Amino acid sequence: MSSIVVIGTQWGDEGKGKIVHLMSEFADYVVRYQGGNNAGHTVVFDNQKFVFHLIPSGILEKGKKCIIANGVVVDPWELISEIETLQDRGIDFCERLYISELCHTILPYHKKMDKKKEESEKIGTTKKGIGPCYTDKVARVGIRLCEYLDDKAFNRCLDVALEDKKEYLDDATRFKNEILLEREKIKTKLKKFVCNTTEIINKVIKKNKKVIFESAQGTMLDVDFGTYPYVTSSNPTAGFACSGSGIGPNKIAKVMGITKAYTTRVGEGPFPTELKDKTGNMLKEIGGEFGATTGRARRCGWFDAVIACEAILLNGIDGITLTKLDVLDTFKKIKICIGYKKNGKEIKYFPKNRFEYVLVEPVYITMDGWMEPTTKIKNYDDLPTNAKKYIQKLEDILSCSISAISVGKEKKQTIIIDKDIIELNF
Ligand code: GDP
Ligand code: IMO
Ligand code: MG
Repeated sequence: MSSIVVIGTQWGDEGKGKIVHLMSEFADYVVRYQGGNNAGHTVVFDNQKFVFHLIPSGILEKGKKCIIANGVVVDPWELISEIETLQDRGIDFCERLYISELCHTILPYHKKMDKKKEESEKIGTTKKGIGPCYTDKVARVGIRLCEYLDDKAFNRCLDVALEDKKEYLDDATRFKNEILLEREKIKTKLKKFVCNTTEIINKVIKKNKKVIFESAQGTMLDVDFGTYPYVTSSNPTAGFACSGSGIGPNKIAKVMGITKAYTTRVGEGPFPTELKDKTGNMLKEIGGEFGATTGRARRCGWFDAVIACEAILLNGIDGITLTKLDVLDTFKKIKICIGYKKNGKEIKYFPKNRFEYVLVEPVYITMDGWMEPTTKIKNYDDLPTNAKKYIQKLEDILSCSISAISVGKEKKQTIIIDKDIIELNF
């Protein structure tokens, strides 16, 4: 059995897209199992840049098949637009993309509700309608692709949904007509991709094909385990790869964590190691830390080992790919947060009560920087001594082995340590 979940261990934007693309050369299928077009996964290769929102990052590898599974929420218009933009850039989708008929659809009122909610309760969402769509799913008034594509069913479901949203809509009839009209334009384009993806995934796993399950967000944005309420409305954590795609837990062989060599977050919410000074600005500028979906500047700070340790535990991570090490190349001193101080006491966990988030202060150890470029290095042994010391320190604190190190945006800028996990040989 050769299936692996690839998961972000921080607040997203760890470089999942780059690593999933790299690993997809060795895989047969890449499956997205949660989130929606709030995700922004960047892949840079041969000087070309692609940003994926709904389409799995494996689509660039010729012949590899991609699946958008039931746990994902799909904005039909955004999806078609993403497909067409990629087709215009020469990406072939023929018999390579399968979308679950069980995916819930994001409709215009979800986006409207997301924006309205942000005015009163600021989470800093992407305003893509993700939260309201997942809310409808759980409240049993959502509309899935199987209904969206069926005229009669859609009409009936839409009436129920609009009745439920009366307070958000000035003119429900006009809104309904607009939605129906818009749907007519893309229905046929969408239909050919929509099917029973659970059947496909289970079949290919049975045939021992290599499958990557790609998480959309990072662990700290998980609705159960993240920094609630400053989270997304789904479960990026590895366990959800099963219910988000319709497989049994015994079908997952490994879990790979993608971890940035420092920390970033977009939107509101606690971030103990955030640097609001020159150093934070340097991380942002050198790391190019601007959101791939909304373009917002990302907040930046030192590596937080407390959240990384939690992510390793929550996801059952077997190996870590450490990304963006090169961003630290010019820093004289580099800090690692190994715990927090709360009311004068040292703690090794993130407080769960939202009113205690502000009470924690990071406890740091300081390492010497290496002050040498790493972007052209191909082998671990050739890394500067202090870079190796930094990596070893992280391995010791996290008690988890580092399987690969990313030293630049391009696929070839990756130092592979554990070839078997990257190539899905297990
Ligand atoms: P994702 O959402 O986890 O896929 O990450 P994003 O694509 O949102 O953000 C990661 C950003 O860092 C993208 O601009 C990548 O091109 C870039 N990137 C990925 N790995 C590296 C790396 O090792 N070094 C540098 N300098 N940039 C990287
Ligand atoms: P990738 O795939 C970083 C954040 C938003 C906000 C919170 C809730 O690029 O790692 P939502 O629109 O999901 O309801 O917003 O979650 N968020 C992300 N932050 N990277 C992402 O995806 C994110 N997707 C959502 O900024 O704080
Ligand atoms: Mg991103």
